[in-house]
Amino acid sequence: MIFTTPDLKIYSSQDFPAYLPKLNSLYDDLFSGGKGFRSQLVKWISQSLSIPSETQKLLAQTIEFIHNASLLHDDLVDRSHLRRGKPAAWTKYTPEYAVLAGDYLLARVMVNLSKFGNIELVQYTAEMISDLLEGEWLQDSVVGDFFIQLEQLNRIHELKTASLFKWCLKAPLVAIQYPNRNVIGLVEELGSILGQLFQRSDDLLDYDVRNGENKAILGDLKSKYLNSFGSFVCQGKSKADIERLVQSQSLGEFKVNLGGEATFEALLKEFDAINSQKIQLYFHLLEKLKEQLQPSEVGMIEFLRPLPDLLYWRRK
Ligand code: FPP
Ligand code: MG
Repeated sequence: MIFTTPDLKIYSSQDFPAYLPKLNSLYDDLFSGGKGFRSQLVKWISQSLSIPSETQKLLAQTIEFIHNASLLHDDLVDRSHLRRGKPAAWTKYTPEYAVLAGDYLLARVMVNLSKFGNIELVQYTAEMISDLLEGEWLQDSVVGDFFIQLEQLNRIHELKTASLFKWCLKAPLVAIQYPNRNVIGLVEELGSILGQLFQRSDDLLDYDVRNGENKAILGDLKSKYLNSFGSFVCQGKSKADIERLVQSQSLGEFKVNLGGEATFEALLKEFDAINSQKIQLYFHLLEKLKEQLQPSEVGMIEFLRPLPDLLYWRRK
């Protein structure tokens, strides 16, 4: 797999005021340890379109600032004590500083983008942030609803997760005012599928499936949030069965309440099969995209091809 950790530091000492040492130290903690996957995506697309490196840097920084601002706020909202294996900013620097540091990143994004002067890019980015917030509000509103349907979760995932993946693929095209609307439409669809796949794979980590990064098990369920895999396994079950299932205190107990390890594995296979259909659609759209690109741009396809493997199957 060609995925590599980005070599570029996402910001330099000039990006934040030196007279705010606490803010700088918070950002040093926050940005070190992140995989920088979203900015890498931006760079792959930008490189295949021969976008100037200054613009690439602006776009990469924009997505990392927004993503990290959302994490600063999210950890406080979720009362999560750890982020990337380290103390979450609100625990180390106080909740107030975590909120202000997130706000400041968003402010820098708007300053930097407006200096670039492409109003369509400013508008698209503002819409993406707005989607992200709406997704977070909606997700909060379904906490405690153990009868939520997969379609409702899809909408939340589209706003909360896929909006950022779409942005990574589309923003470089918007930045250079790319003329082919078909290409823009296709990369939006691809970004949306990648976001959905990533979220579903992330939801499986909660059930310790392909959990190479050792994320906390049953964290979502214990916070009374039935994620996509949880909702999938509850489909067609009686109210009493669902109530018993969601009260499970451990993964072992969850599997027993579900009918045993073999039932769990069979449901996982079914869930993977549904998501494999999304992956097939992704590859189909990728072929359509290849037909639309200029010969000098088709390198983009090679960057996009391995992403379902990486994001859904978590193969490195
Ligand atoms: C992680 O989800 C969180 C998000 C993808 C988005 C959170 C968005 C907000 C808090 C809105 C504020 C946004 C901005 C731009 C300031 P998770 O909690 O499911 O995943 P985790 O396990 O990584 O915490
Ligand atoms: Mg969280």
